Amino acid sequence: MSQPDFSQYTWAGRFAEPMTELVKRYTASVTFDQRMWRQDIRASLAHATMLARQGIIGDDDLAAIEHGMAQVSAEIETGEFVWSLDLEDVHLNIEKRLTALIGDAGKRLHTGRSRNDQVATDIRLYLRDAIDDLLELLESFQHRLLDLAEREAATPLPGFTHLQVAQPVTFGHHLLAYHEMIRRDAERFVDCRRRTNRLPLGAAALAGTTYPIDRQLVAQLLGFDEVCENSLDAVSDRDFAIEFCSASALLMMHLSRLSEELVLWMNPCFGFIRIADRFCTGSSIMPQKKNPDVPELARGKTGRVYGHLLALLTLMKSQPLAYNKDNQEDKEPLFDTVDTLSDTLRIFVEMIPGISVNPERMRAALQQGFATATDLADYLTRKGLPFRDAHEVVGRAVRRAEESQVDLAQLPLDELRQFSPLIDDDVASALTIDGSLAARSHFGGTAPDQVLAAIARARRR
Ligand code: ARG
Repeated sequence: MSQPDFSQYTWAGRFAEPMTELVKRYTASVTFDQRMWRQDIRASLAHATMLARQGIIGDDDLAAIEHGMAQVSAEIETGEFVWSLDLEDVHLNIEKRLTALIGDAGKRLHTGRSRNDQVATDIRLYLRDAIDDLLELLESFQHRLLDLAEREAATPLPGFTHLQVAQPVTFGHHLLAYHEMIRRDAERFVDCRRRTNRLPLGAAALAGTTYPIDRQLVAQLLGFDEVCENSLDAVSDRDFAIEFCSASALLMMHLSRLSEELVLWMNPCFGFIRIADRFCTGSSIMPQKKNPDVPELARGKTGRVYGHLLALLTLMKSQPLAYNKDNQEDKEPLFDTVDTLSDTLRIFVEMIPGISVNPERMRAALQQGFATATDLADYLTRKGLPFRDAHEVVGRAVRRAEESQVDLAQLPLDELRQFSPLIDDDVASALTIDGSLAARSHFGGTAPDQVLAAIARARRR
């Protein structure tokens, strides 16, 4: 029986038989890791530059590698490049094509490195770029929130606790709460970027290399802030990807809260907002329906991002040092997290300006919920009644208003005075929604002037 030809495998020398088709498909990553081709080429060029600078390969080799890589790039860009499952991953596909184009210089590129430090480098470069893109999107999203908050800085909205009317807030203030959440999310990504932006290359397979490499130079060429200190750690840990997914899970959690509120507010029972039609869909059976599909999906996609975080944590758990093939499984969850965040943020950036509010409905909801009851208690406290007693008095007044089916502000003064003689005709301003809002004028408060001040601070940042 003749030996099948499997000489295309870079590691064929040691093997007596080729992989089965199923094993090939099972072990290959090229179908998904080809998305890192730019990072792979960038890292290879930096590595080759360093090798030449250190006299490990010739300057003519470097020139050939640079020339060949330009052609490989062009082929991938135009879609001419033929990705082969036989070549397992993005790294071997590119190296093989380079060698076909330039010969021996292509075979010298892998001197002093391994796919283990190569892939760790590519993925860090990829994630660093992705974080930069996401940070830009987060900034745009924050700007949209600030614009809407400014427009609605004085618009009263029922503030809820337990999803029941609690106290009046301004819609602008409510939006600024999300602005704060997103600000912390951005901080987390910036922080995660610091630990991502360290160079693994030079760790080679696990133990470093015998060549006189210059890792600082490679780090500098690739814009890494630091060089990974330990070769075993450099090739094996993916904690930076886990950190990223963790920050992503928190971001999606925040977006899911906003989404949930948008869905509620858009429900005709609330009728607080409308979302532009282009972000909604209809029903195939109920002609009247307009469904907030975009926020619903954002809410739903939160689940898959949580799932990716758990997948990566579990992937890494109990892995012995150093590199294990398990780590090839880091890419799909990571890529899908990046894609989900990027699409969700892009759509929110477009959707926020497409929100129109219905201030009458918000005000009407507030008037039904005795939202200024706390203000009446504060009023009585200012007049000398201990707060706990004031709370009791107002509770009784609320019961009366409820029986009469009116708001507190609509109870006649002499009726209010039956509950406490401390109540005078100056109570009116405490009982109105706008009076209640204006009175909460301290740093971080809901008063319209505080909302505008918070927006100004955010813009300055
Ligand atoms: N495709 C592999 C990955 O994504 C590249 C590293 C493979 N290294 C190895 N020794 N098989 O992790």
